[in-house]
Amino acid sequence: MSLLRLGPADAGEVLTLQRAAYVPEARAHENIDLPPLTETFEQTKAALGDPACSTWGIRESGRLVASVRIVVDGGAGLVGRLIVAPDRQGHGLGSSLLLAAEDAAPPSVTVFRLFTGERSAGPLRMYRKLGYVETHRTPEKHYQLVHFEKPRVRTGGPVR
Ligand SMILES: CC(C)(COP(=O)(O)OP(=O)(O)OC[C@H]1O[C@@H](n2cnc3c(N)ncnc32)[C@H](O)[C@@H]1OP(=O)(O)O)[C@@H](O)C(=O)NCCC(=O)NCCS
Repeated sequence: MSLLRLGPADAGEVLTLQRAAYVPEARAHENIDLPPLTETFEQTKAALGDPACSTWGIRESGRLVASVRIVVDGGAGLVGRLIVAPDRQGHGLGSSLLLAAEDAAPPSVTVFRLFTGERSAGPLRMYRKLGYVETHRTPEKHYQLVHFEKPRVRTGGPVR
């Protein structure tokens, strides 16, 4: 898998992918107003140009098939908008991209945080499998958001 850093020029493709990927989550939570679905093109473009926000993606034969953002907030890397094209889900792209983005996050990041809806069975399973631990739940409309955390494990380099 080759990890690509995405920027404002990729905003149109990212938003298209985001809307396609999040519709099943909206149906599962009976909430069409999930932030990834209400986000405008201008907001996506701004996020992709924000120096505090790093966005990575995967292209297959030029086509954008996956993307994820990490916003640096102090020592925390806030992971969001992890998306894989509907026809490419279930082939390991989402987990590979998340792990690669964690590796590529700025050195100041010591912990990763993210959340998902309680009815998102796939993401809940994936995050636990990748080492994220549930920290707490917060109410959101008629369901709960499940918050996770994962300390950064530094790899590479001999231990002296
Ligand atoms: C969630 C998402 C990013 C996962 O990407 P993916 O490439 O499909 O996931 P992977 O193939 O890497 O699967 C990794 C693990 O996630 C879990 N998983 C992912 N999708 C699943 C599903 N629909 N049902 C059950 N488990 C699922 C599994 O544990 C899987 O590992 P396993 O097959 O070895 O058991 C992708 O399905 C997606 O874009 N979903 C819509 C958007 C979304 O919900 N984003 C996250 C919101 S917080």
